[in-house]
Amino acid sequence: MPSPVAQSPPKAEEAEAVAHQAETTIEVGGSESDTGYESEWASSVSTSVSSSVRDYTFENGRRYHKYSEGRYLFPNDESEQEREDMKHAMVLNLCGGRLHYAPLDNPQSVLDIGTGTGIWAIDFGDEYPSASVLGVDLSPIQPSWVPPNVKFMVDDAESPWIYPINNFDFIHLRHLASSLKDTPALINQAMVNLKPGGWIEMQELYFDLSSDDDSIPEAHAFSKWLTFVRQGLETFGVDLLSPAKTQDRLKDAGFENVTERIFKVPIGTWPKNQTLAKVGLYGQAMCVDGLQGNSMKTFTKGLGWTADEVEVFLVDVRDSFKDRKVHSYLTFRVCYGQKPVGGV
Ligand SMILES: C[S@@+](CC[C@H](N)C(=O)[O-])C[C@H]1O[C@@H](n2cnc3c(N)ncnc32)[C@H](O)[C@@H]1O
Repeated sequence: MPSPVAQSPPKAEEAEAVAHQAETTIEVGGSESDTGYESEWASSVSTSVSSSVRDYTFENGRRYHKYSEGRYLFPNDESEQEREDMKHAMVLNLCGGRLHYAPLDNPQSVLDIGTGTGIWAIDFGDEYPSASVLGVDLSPIQPSWVPPNVKFMVDDAESPWIYPINNFDFIHLRHLASSLKDTPALINQAMVNLKPGGWIEMQELYFDLSSDDDSIPEAHAFSKWLTFVRQGLETFGVDLLSPAKTQDRLKDAGFENVTERIFKVPIGTWPKNQTLAKVGLYGQAMCVDGLQGNSMKTFTKGLGWTADEVEVFLVDVRDSFKDRKVHSYLTFRVCYGQKPVGGV
């Protein structure tokens, strides 16, 4: 079975149908039994990403970035990289293979902030061979064999930018809400460094669990976990629900043609539609596989829990994913805007 990362996204017509359901109401599948994805999934997670061994710190058995130490609270080890690449596959399936929604016209200079394993930047470089793509991240975890038009650099995007002004056709950020402390400042900086007429696009999961059929129980351990993560991040000055503010923030910064699309990301294989069930499988694996890494620093350093208390709580949280009567989803918010053609 090929790696999920290598699986091709749905074809155009089906992709439209999937996107439509994900933006409206997702039909629940007829059976609450295992659709077969789970067993396939167990043996299929693999990644070709190789990691550098430079500049890391270790805590509670996990590896973290060393450059600008403490800036990003989640691990950067192999298992976290596999999880990030799986999230990429999840998003591609949800979005019909689209890497962006901004209406780009022959982009030449592209910046991917917080590029992670670089998987989006590499795919973008493949899709636009005439573009130069720069991916920056706190961690040097990107592969060295990449398309010739893709480069990576270790940098802290919340430090002053060293890039030329009026330089980029496209600035892309994805899955950074759990890290950024001053998003409006970063948006203003992006405005300075974009060419007039260039685009910014921010793609973020919104970590508030919902259902359309009231199927989330009152005392749902995963919902409680999300609340604790949000509170823990708050103590570090991070607002995990900030993606709800992106549209206003882009407008406030002076971006034009600001557009937002909101897709439902099912958690679990409950959707009837097979592509959305696959997205749901990835979504659930993303949550379950991320529990330990996303909790440790936020709960221990932010909320004062011991590592043992975290592990005990996580047993209940993992259990909460087994209830197949729960038809829950997170949302994925895509928001893009254009720097005025006449500049600012
Ligand atoms: C959740 S991962 C997302 C990776 C990638 N954008 C993707 O969608 O596949 C967040 C990444 O942002 C990086 N990051 C967080 N804060 C950053 C900052 N201030 N400057 C640069 N990178 C940052 C982290 O090191 C991590 O690799």
